[in-house]
Amino acid sequence: MTLGRILLVDDEKDLLEWLSVTLEQQGYEVTCAGSGEEALEIFRREPFDMVISDIQMGAVSGIELLRQIKDINPEIIVLLVTAYASVETAVKALRYGAYDYLEKPFKLDEIKVKILRAFSQKRIFPEDKGQQKKLRDRYRFANIVGKSEPMQEVFRMVDKVAKTSTTILIQGESGTGKELIAKSLHYNSLKTDKPFVSIDCGALPDELLESELFGHVKGSFTGAISTKQGLFEVASGGTLFLDEIGETSPAMQTKLLRALQEKEIRPVGATKQTKVDVRVVAATNRNLEEEVCREKFRKDLFYRISVITIRLPALRERREDIPVLINHFLKKYQLNGQVKRLAPESAEHLFRYDWPGNIRELENAIESAVALSDTEIITLDDLPLRIISRMPEPDSPSGLDESLKASVEDFESKLISRVLKKTGGNKSEAARMLKMTRRNLDYKIKRYNLL
Ligand SMILES: Nc1ncnc2c1ncn2[C@@H]1O[C@H](COP(=O)(O)OP(=O)(O)OP(=O)(O)O)[C@@H](O)[C@H]1O
Ligand SMILES: [Mg+2]
Repeated sequence: MTLGRILLVDDEKDLLEWLSVTLEQQGYEVTCAGSGEEALEIFRREPFDMVISDIQMGAVSGIELLRQIKDINPEIIVLLVTAYASVETAVKALRYGAYDYLEKPFKLDEIKVKILRAFSQKRIFPEDKGQQKKLRDRYRFANIVGKSEPMQEVFRMVDKVAKTSTTILIQGESGTGKELIAKSLHYNSLKTDKPFVSIDCGALPDELLESELFGHVKGSFTGAISTKQGLFEVASGGTLFLDEIGETSPAMQTKLLRALQEKEIRPVGATKQTKVDVRVVAATNRNLEEEVCREKFRKDLFYRISVITIRLPALRERREDIPVLINHFLKKYQLNGQVKRLAPESAEHLFRYDWPGNIRELENAIESAVALSDTEIITLDDLPLRIISRMPEPDSPSGLDESLKASVEDFESKLISRVLKKTGGNKSEAARMLKMTRRNLDYKIKRYNLL
């Protein structure tokens, strides 16, 4: 019986030995790696409960290692150890999902307590082991990323309801991942060998939508040259995803209600009803309760489809997912095996932006940035203008003290105008001297009304 499996990573052999012996005495099972590369290799092969790694190492730093292992297993607990604890590295570590960090030299008690605390938190969820693995496999499989509490709640919900046949409503702003969740509901159901069929209810006029959904018999209308099966039948045994259900007309809503209640449909032009057996998942970016109040959406249909509702939070409500998602997309859009990185300034802007288009917008931004950047690093110049044209706001809710902010700005504007004078108005050179990107300089010139 072991208390847990720990992967220890450090390029200092002595420390490694000392720690591993002590932790083994405590009852942990310890594996050692002398570099980030070696750690990754071991990590891919074997399961661990925790990784403890030094930050300053050779080619693959502790932070880089953290990013990569979190990609492989988002739930792994990572403790980072650093000789030079700067607030900056610590913040970065926590941002990328480290559980905690320790400053070298540390006392043995200190690390013991941190390990214990980390493990006991993990054990708050009892049945876990198997459960967590399922969770992991699922969203690795479906590529759904999210470590924030609201997303974890979504995953728990998906886990709970996927195997039932209840109708499910997914509500969320555009780009929050409604379709992805619908698919994950299907692929975690008991009917994964049956089809997942999706239709955008907002894209078709009523007559076409009706024949798409319910099918039609030959000759039932001009153009109906042969009998066609509707999607309710095509999806038989599996999942029918009714996307943008909030866009349907009242007449269509009545027909849908009947289909859901009776589990029967009538193809256009047919005289008989056909039995159907599908699990329906509906999605909308509208607030359906409101639509019901405004009598735009049938109340009875709303109740019928919303027995279980999964609400997808907007990205700005779960900012801690932004770095994880960015990494996910940097990997996804890597070029020739090269995964690009963000310059700190770029990261800052991406973390602070509001993301009205949610994950879709973030994904597009990363995809285009990767394509635009000439080097391995994504600079501000590679990011869409709307993202960088907003200055990052300070973290604290009240913002920086106004007077401090004003004096910083005053200082900055004077500095920029001085440098511009020096370069005779040459902005590229000024940007170089100021160690800022040309675009950022342009922005500041405009903002401070210089030149
Ligand atoms: N949690 C997530 N992890 C990884 N990728 C995600 C996640 N959520 C969404 N995406 C990606 O973002 C994009 C938008 O997701 P999706 O199409 O599911 O959103 P949607 O809510 O249906 O959007 P819309 O309302 O615009 O149709 C997709 O490419 C999807 O793969
Ligand atoms: Mg969608």
